[in-house]
Amino acid sequence: MSEAHERRTLGVAVIGFGWMGQVHARAWARLAQHFPEVPVRPTFVVVADTDEGRRREACEVFGFAHAVHDWAEVLERDDVDVVSVCGPNFVHREIGAAVAASGRHLWIEKPAGRSAEDTTEIAAAVHRSGVMSAVGFNYRHAPAVQVAKHLVASGALGRLESVDVHMLADYSAHPDQALSWRFDPQYAGTGVLGDLVSHGLDLALHVGGTTLGGVAELVADQATYLTERPFAPEGGRSHFARGGDGPRGPVGNEDTASALLRYASGARGTLVASRVAVGEQCGYGFDVRGTEGALAWDFRRMGELRVCIDHDYQDATWETRLVRPGDGDLSAFQPGSGIAMSYDDLKVVECHLLAQSIHTGVPQGPTIDDGVVAAGLVDAMVRSYEEKRWVRP
Ligand SMILES: NC(=O)c1ccc[n+]([C@@H]2O[C@H](COP(=O)([O-])OP(=O)(O)OC[C@H]3O[C@@H](n4cnc5c(N)ncnc54)[C@H](O)[C@@H]3O)[C@@H](O)[C@H]2O)c1
Repeated sequence: MSEAHERRTLGVAVIGFGWMGQVHARAWARLAQHFPEVPVRPTFVVVADTDEGRRREACEVFGFAHAVHDWAEVLERDDVDVVSVCGPNFVHREIGAAVAASGRHLWIEKPAGRSAEDTTEIAAAVHRSGVMSAVGFNYRHAPAVQVAKHLVASGALGRLESVDVHMLADYSAHPDQALSWRFDPQYAGTGVLGDLVSHGLDLALHVGGTTLGGVAELVADQATYLTERPFAPEGGRSHFARGGDGPRGPVGNEDTASALLRYASGARGTLVASRVAVGEQCGYGFDVRGTEGALAWDFRRMGELRVCIDHDYQDATWETRLVRPGDGDLSAFQPGSGIAMSYDDLKVVECHLLAQSIHTGVPQGPTIDDGVVAAGLVDAMVRSYEEKRWVRP
């Protein structure tokens, strides 16, 4: 490697080594393989997790040098430069703010707290200390989503009329799914709102960009269909763990949410989200319509963008455009069209954007400020539902 490409060592810590913590670690491990020019060399310093098995896995399987029970010990070290905060939502605020206040760069999972108040507190700490931040709005990074964003910005669709977002999942559809932290407002905050709606709102705003101009007002509804669930078995805290036949407890947050949105540009939008949608697995995507064309994308066919442009207004037909090298970061992962990227690859892109932010001092990709925007809209949806009226975020 030439002198020009010498890499600065970056000590990596991960707090919360479950699904997301491990995805973050894999992203750091693969970063230079996909982006050889990246100017940082990550080293796996320390993992903090309250679960002994996860700590062991971090050292034995991932190669972290240390693993600790108490996350505060991570910030006592002088060899940690960047920290992933991947614990449950209720730890985001305290840990995220402490990481930033300690001068470490912050990669935090969405929804970055349980409420807009939590997210704003983390953002304030980030701004006070001037560190770089990244928030896990990974669906933005799909090359087809990047193509959609550019087509909208180029005016190919004419004037935007609507952006409709669907975030439909069945991960909580089973009535015996264990009553994990995700169903308790004290630990999760909202339910599907923080979990999936935050992603959907970020997607809409990212694809619509300045053409949409942000959400001016919205009206929202929500419901909890499965109001009781069995208490979690020991160790069964994942999205997918099942409880037994024993006692049940109350579900404290919403299973489904929907909204009508009015954007500042005058465009309209709908949003529908559920964690209990039987028959839907990762049904995450959008339909964008303009006066002269339309686009559609769904995560389950991540490499395809459905496009309806350059036609007469009526009887226009759709084409399926496979992403190709040159679209987004596809060529960092695959040499040609039709070879699939994965969910984990989106996190490598997110990691690369954070590494670039750290190197240049200029924020790139979704930051804590995008987290604040999404959290503010989620709060507005709750307010609208509770007050039964249109609200301004
Ligand atoms: N971006 C995405 O697409 C996406 C997908 C899934 C989850 N998430 C978010 O990631 C976060 C974690 O979700 P997950 O699915 O990885 O959860 P998980 O339950 O798989 O992992 C959480 C881990 O945090 C550990 N933990 C709990 N309290 C802790 C503490 N005080 N200190 C240190 N570790 C602690 C647990 O032992 C567990 O290993 C959530 O905020 C969730 O919303 C984002």
